[in-house]
Amino acid sequence: MSRAIFRISLLTHVLLVAGQRPLPVVPNVILSNGVEFPVMSFGANVWDAETTRYSTGFALMAGFRNFFSSVLIGEASQAAQAEVLGNFSRGELFICGTVNTGDGACDGLDDCYAKTKAGALGQFSVLKQDLLDMIMLDYPATGGCESIVGQWKALEELYLANKTRSIAVSNFSPDQIQCIANNPGSTLPHMNQMPYSVGHGDDTVVQDDAKFGTKVQAYSPLDAGALVNDPLCKEIGDKYKRSAAQIALKWVLQRNVSVCTESTSLVYMQMDLDIFSFNLTVDEMQRLNAHKPTARNNVA
Ligand SMILES: *[C@@H]1O[C@H](CO)[C@@H](O)[C@H](O)[C@H]1NC(C)=O
Ligand SMILES: *[C@@H]1O[C@H](CO)[C@@H](O)[C@H](O)[C@H]1NC(C)=O
Ligand SMILES: *[C@@H]1O[C@H](CO)[C@@H](O)[C@H](O)[C@H]1NC(C)=O
Ligand SMILES: *[C@@H]1O[C@H](CO)[C@@H](O)[C@H](O)[C@H]1NC(C)=O
Repeated sequence: MSRAIFRISLLTHVLLVAGQRPLPVVPNVILSNGVEFPVMSFGANVWDAETTRYSTGFALMAGFRNFFSSVLIGEASQAAQAEVLGNFSRGELFICGTVNTGDGACDGLDDCYAKTKAGALGQFSVLKQDLLDMIMLDYPATGGCESIVGQWKALEELYLANKTRSIAVSNFSPDQIQCIANNPGSTLPHMNQMPYSVGHGDDTVVQDDAKFGTKVQAYSPLDAGALVNDPLCKEIGDKYKRSAAQIALKWVLQRNVSVCTESTSLVYMQMDLDIFSFNLTVDEMQRLNAHKPTARNNVA
């Protein structure tokens, strides 16, 4: 069998298997402005466009409807996401684009405003959308509050012009959100995307950001794959007939943090969404809160 034929028959098989499964019902978190945000979001990594294309298709099949498209994955991959999502019913999708004006990319209020505005406008064309559901800053600007206020002014303008239904930040400390909050009447970030996974049980980010009405979304919810072999997650998973990864994701959700995940495997994507028919007990949550995963070996 030629490789091409093998790939096609594999894809057909996968489509048939996927088609037989009832789609999971993914709950929403309600953002501070009332917008519904599905708690499970799918993001692409720095993949080639073809990988992004089939993975995004698999994610739709698995039941993901919230898509995170970071400018950091590159224009070709973002365009591939847009192409696949463009063939799906828009009203069922939540689409988030990003702007990266962190790490010295801009300096001061005017410069950070101009560069962030240009970056944000670029997202509408790359993602082929007139209206986005969210635009996020990938990083806070370096250079203090003035620069952050400039970044935020650009997103806030788009929000007030109804070009995006919500605006968000990533990797922001409470002090950096406070820079925005210092300006009375400003729209506070609806979401802060942060590294968050089992091992972050002592983090206070959820409570800290709640003071601003800002919800938290986890990136790297499996700690870059390290948790797929975590012994405690495995042990708890046995009770629910779930994998260590599924338990690790469930812990994130029960900490009131939503999840942004990525995978190229349809089976793993389906497993990621198969975590809504059980809840971890208070005792299990406490054990996981206190857990400090050690080995970062066997990373998937
Ligand atoms: C999307 O639809 C167009 C037009 O029907 C088609 O040409 C294209 O191949 C589709 N793309 C994907 C990724 O399914
Ligand atoms: C944005 O939408 C709101 C609610 O529909 C409306 O009140 C407001 O006038 C709109 N703003 C602009 C600039 O279109
Ligand atoms: C999650 O939010 C609910 C509802 O606001 C609250 O009762 C619960 O204590 C929160 N859990 C955590 C771990 O913060
Ligand atoms: C899990 O907990 C949530 C929130 O308290 C609740 O809405 C849901 O029904 C529970 N699910 C199960 C399977 O017990």
